Amino acid sequence: MFTFAPTEGQSKAELHADLLEAARALTQDEPDGIANMANLAALLWQFLPDLNWAGFYRMVGGELVLGPFIGKPACIRIPVGRGVCGAAAATGQTQLVPDVHAFPGHIACDAASQSELVVPVIRDGTVIAVIDLDSPSPARFDADDARGIEALAKAMADRI
Ligand code: SME
Repeated sequence: MFTFAPTEGQSKAELHADLLEAARALTQDEPDGIANMANLAALLWQFLPDLNWAGFYRMVGGELVLGPFIGKPACIRIPVGRGVCGAAAATGQTQLVPDVHAFPGHIACDAASQSELVVPVIRDGTVIAVIDLDSPSPARFDADDARGIEALAKAMADRI
């Protein structure tokens, strides 16, 4: 049994450090990328409070295709350049969106989503996936969250 879980009263930096350590431990020596993404989605969900969706879109045949996630069923295919995920894939840049309703072209998969953080996963200079986090709270994510998830994306780029 795995008992990876956040500790009460942790700072955000400690939380992200523990999340990264758990992700490394859980994916070590496992070559199956889908299995690793499934466990990473579960870890994100377990470690990060106030989410309504956490998971992956993978770059398949030039578009984003839904990968392992936790949350409500979501749109399956997202063209590069469309929505928040598509913007992250097109630019290779993290998208920190405090108000999804103000983001041009935002794709609403769950009407509860108010803010969103999308971090590209880059391997050998190419975007191979994005990590998508949605929250029912406005401005749930800040630059520290972005840095934490970017570190996770970097560490996991060879494992998914
Ligand atoms: N909101 C995303 C779509 C994916 S769902 O949030 C799970 C977007 O605009 O790309």
